[in-house]
Amino acid sequence: MKRLGVADAGEVLTLQRAAYVTEARAHDDWDLPPLLETLDETRAALSSCLSWGIRENGRLVASVRLTVSDDVGVIGRLVVAPDRQGCGLGGGLLAFVESAAPPPVTVFRLFTGSKSVGPLALYAKHGYRETHRTPENNHELVHLEKARVP
Ligand SMILES: CC(C)(COP(=O)(O)OP(=O)(O)OC[C@H]1O[C@@H](n2cnc3c(N)ncnc32)[C@H](O)[C@@H]1OP(=O)(O)O)[C@@H](O)C(=O)NCCC(=O)NCCS
Repeated sequence: MKRLGVADAGEVLTLQRAAYVTEARAHDDWDLPPLLETLDETRAALSSCLSWGIRENGRLVASVRLTVSDDVGVIGRLVVAPDRQGCGLGGGLLAFVESAAPPPVTVFRLFTGSKSVGPLALYAKHGYRETHRTPENNHELVHLEKARVP
């Protein structure tokens, strides 16, 4: 796992756009924020949050962001390159970001689309439980939470 920063923004954005195509198709919504994000927005996000990625032979194949607010760690933009999905990278990165979160974090929160079958299965497997749903364009966002295991 490597810490990612502003210098990685171009690669992160490219990876993110490739990964989220399946989610856009699943929700029939091509205006998902991860697809609309600009390079400047990616740079700003990487300068203000904690981010890690996995490189294989130099190639960025997975990344994730963590935003800390008091005792809450918000996990976002967990992405794996389409040709490397289903090999355990996403689950491994999720477990890593939980272990690498600063000590004050006692709870993790994240959200995903209501039709995101893969992410919903992944998060359930890692102990996340739904707290509520919010409307988003033509679907819903499912908000999930998990207490940090000491
Ligand atoms: C979601 C994502 C990060 C998962 O990464 P991954 O490396 O493919 O996931 P893993 O190989 O670690 O899979 C771990 C578990 O996730 C679940 N899972 C992942 N993809 C799945 C799919 N398409 N269908 C059903 N379950 C799936 C399974 O429970 C799996 O465990 P198992 O292999 O024991 O059955 C990846 O598919 C991705 O980048 N998707 C597009 C972007 C996205 O939706 N990100 C989440 C935003 S909230």
